[in-house]
Amino acid sequence: MDPPSLRARVTLGLLLLAPVGAVLALPRVPVPPENPITEPKRVLGKILFWDEQLSSDNTVACGTCHRPASGGADPRYGRHPGTDPGTIDDVYGSPGIVGMDSGGMAVEHPVFGRGHQITGRLSPSNFGGLWAERLFWDGSAGPEFRDPVTGRVVIERHGALEAQTLVALSNDAEMMKPGREWAELTAKLEHEAPLALATGWPEDVRAAIGADPSYPALFERAFGDPAITAVRIAFAIAAYQRTLVADETPWDRYQAGDDDAMTAAEVQGWRAFQSLRCMNCHVPPLFTNDAFFNIGLRRVEYDPGRMGVTGDPADAGDMKVPSLRNAGLRKRFMHTGEFTHLGAAIGFYQTGTVFPERDDIPGAGTYAFNMSSVQERDLFAFIGEALTDPRVRDETYPFDRPRLRTENATQDTQPPAVPGKLTATRVDGEVVLSWDEPADDTGVVDYVLQRNRRIAALTTATRFTDRDAGPERLSYRVYARDAALNESGAAEVIIGEAAGPEGESGR
Ligand code: HEC
Ligand code: HEC
Repeated sequence: MDPPSLRARVTLGLLLLAPVGAVLALPRVPVPPENPITEPKRVLGKILFWDEQLSSDNTVACGTCHRPASGGADPRYGRHPGTDPGTIDDVYGSPGIVGMDSGGMAVEHPVFGRGHQITGRLSPSNFGGLWAERLFWDGSAGPEFRDPVTGRVVIERHGALEAQTLVALSNDAEMMKPGREWAELTAKLEHEAPLALATGWPEDVRAAIGADPSYPALFERAFGDPAITAVRIAFAIAAYQRTLVADETPWDRYQAGDDDAMTAAEVQGWRAFQSLRCMNCHVPPLFTNDAFFNIGLRRVEYDPGRMGVTGDPADAGDMKVPSLRNAGLRKRFMHTGEFTHLGAAIGFYQTGTVFPERDDIPGAGTYAFNMSSVQERDLFAFIGEALTDPRVRDETYPFDRPRLRTENATQDTQPPAVPGKLTATRVDGEVVLSWDEPADDTGVVDYVLQRNRRIAALTTATRFTDRDAGPERLSYRVYARDAALNESGAAEVIIGEAAGPEGESGR
């Protein structure tokens, strides 16, 4: 309809009017219409993300492995031995929960013994991929999200963050003991105080828990009724993560026209980044194209990557391109965690780097770049500094967070004192238990309650209603743990059969 000359003029005019910064500003984070972001939902998601009570042993929160000051990744690491320890297929992953049986009791794990289990890949940033259709190094999460209980599709598109959340929560190396049912987690949240294990709550979290001091109340505020479900947990955590947009880097300010935002070396690094074509994959402004490549870190036998999802041999060893925003804050690099320094990760791309394992990989040299040592240094300045959002580095809003129990752990090996008298009473087919705080100990963080030597509850309260108790004679024990997981001695009680005489409780 438009005469061609007019259309050309309009296009040219738009080009001239649009500042470069506007062209390269971060796009809006895709939000699935089924899960709109609201403030009560965002805060609930933040509380859940940082609550170690979501794990089967009260020691691991999402945030344990994803900390802003470490670029959304994990400052800790453990060694996953691959098929055999001490060889090149080892991976530096994240420590999760200890090996447990379905009763929640620690068991000897065939690989990790009594220690923490280690994930098979390094944890990437949780907020570098907010725009991605698919999450995880191999893209196995999303975009469709199904209710894990009913199998019903609850989000058709853009549901990768929701899908990924339930994978993390149900992964037996990360947060969940084998065989944990969703009902077990949702029932736990119904009676546990939100964020009870963490200290130093951020302002928004403090206000939300101040107004609604229980999880059912927080869920009601966010979803209209107090029901706690796996889907709602995923919705809230995803909504929170979608607000973690790290768009205040020196590079963003430079793009918006502030020529002083980047140092001379950073500007040179930005030029090298373009001329070397790093940005073919690490495409600005996200610094990723969310595609999958095998850049030749190690042989595909050790990790099939994307092929494990698609079954296509062309995808063998392909891993998701990580966003380089805030990469300067990470403690380890690549899906293997094999580099401990950003400089080493950049140097990996250097032509002629001596890398014996890599030389055996077919096609591994494809992504080698002929960069000078000056370019390498400038790239280091650019990625290391100019792509860092100071709010992420300093953990200020919206990247602020509470301190985790594990961070409060001291070297102290002194166990807490034994909890006071434990009593058990049958009420309508349930067993109501209560005990006293240890008289002289202040270091108690939570209590472990066992029924017949299997974990019945981990709780910060001094009472618990056991709804799964059978009518038979039962023995209960409770002991206290401090932040460092030192365990007190146990208080014990035996309660007779439901049909038997009352009043048998006591020590
Ligand atoms: C024990 C450490 C650990 C815990 C706990 C953990 N994660 Fe992760 N996270 C990882 C690892 C490792 C990966 C990469 C796994 C893979 O790709 O194979 C990952 C991947 C992710 C990703 C995908 C990022 C991307 O760009 O692909 C997101 C998002 C994420 N986690 C969020 C969460 C949330 C939300 C929780 C809590 C429900 C959580 N994580 C709990 C270690 C952890
Ligand atoms: C062909 C696509 C591609 C190109 C081109 C590319 N990269 Fe990468 N980059 C990747 C992929 C894929 C990974 C993750 C690899 C893995 O872990 O297996 C990665 C990882 C990285 C990492 C580690 C990030 C982290 O958080 O672990 C850095 C740093 C990096 N690249 C910098 C560069 C630089 C600098 C250049 C240019 C010299 C470049 N990349 C060119 C695809 C690419």
